[in-house]
Amino acid sequence: MNQQRRKNLCVVVPCLAFIAFMVGVVAYSPTLYRLFCAATGFGGTTQRALAGTDTVSDRTVTVQFDSNVAPDLPWRFEPAQREVSVRLGEQKLVFFTAENLSDKAIVGHATFNVTPDTAGIYFNKIQCFCFDDERLEAHEKVDMPVVFFVDPALAGNAETAGIHTITLSYTFFRSTNSDKAKDLSRFVATSAPDARRGRELFAQQCAGCHDVDANKAGPMLGGVVGRKAGSAPGYNYSAALRSAALTWSADTLDRWLADPREFVADMKMPVPVLDASARRDIIAYLEMESVRSSDHAGNRSVAETSPDQHQKE
Ligand code: HEC
Repeated sequence: MNQQRRKNLCVVVPCLAFIAFMVGVVAYSPTLYRLFCAATGFGGTTQRALAGTDTVSDRTVTVQFDSNVAPDLPWRFEPAQREVSVRLGEQKLVFFTAENLSDKAIVGHATFNVTPDTAGIYFNKIQCFCFDDERLEAHEKVDMPVVFFVDPALAGNAETAGIHTITLSYTFFRSTNSDKAKDLSRFVATSAPDARRGRELFAQQCAGCHDVDANKAGPMLGGVVGRKAGSAPGYNYSAALRSAALTWSADTLDRWLADPREFVADMKMPVPVLDASARRDIIAYLEMESVRSSDHAGNRSVAETSPDQHQKE
């Protein structure tokens, strides 16, 4: 009898262990799948990049944004813009809004996905709330920045060359891992970028040395977004900036303005802009000026760009 019992146990224990193992696999499979996708780019998972490329092509793609929230997460979560048009290789700054509708602080984690999924490996994020677990305080509302670029290699691959629209979609889940969560309140001060405020800040903080149409003590800044650093015609740059392998984008401008010396050692611009929202608005203004100057580049006459005419706007 005793022997029989022991025999039964020999069958039951491994069976239970196996069942426990399978339950574990199933419970963790979303995480495992996510890790697998993040490592391989499989299933439209995007790539994380530390910096952008230096080559910006003329070919553009439209990037559309989509957002979802898991049913058990009382958050509102929406893209601030439906879509943007972006040149391959160009770094783009976009915003997503998240609001905690509940009375408790909650930690969430966003997963992301790109369609068509063959474009996933060419979609690179430099800055994203989706890299970490994120805590949102009760009733807090934030605008979260995402900086991304689409690799110009997209156009070189026969399978993806025909893609003109890419959809980036995020889903926010409740996170169980709240210990290492970052605080979304770091974005609280930011509302949508305000180019009009940026123009005023530019007049106060930059116009002493910079103009959008002409070189002064500092180089001309119209069209600076998308321009190679140290390349405004006729301006005498420091060797450091002239030889920096750097293209101005929302992201690189932000790092330059936050701490020019840290970003390009031995450059000669003496002032940082410490306030993040001021930097963002100034950059929004410069982006607007850059679009304007590329639109009008063809029909702008020499007289129009004369140095003293535009110094005071
Ligand atoms: C006191 C003068 C001064 C002020 C104020 C100043 N800058 Fe500059 N800026 C410079 C100089 C000088 C350079 C050239 C740096 C070099 O060659 O190393 C420069 C370079 C730059 C560049 C690089 C341009 C290029 O063609 O590569 C950007 C961008 C820029 N400034 C933005 C700004 C903005 C935005 C502000 C206002 C928040 C500002 N600067 C305020 C003097 C100034």
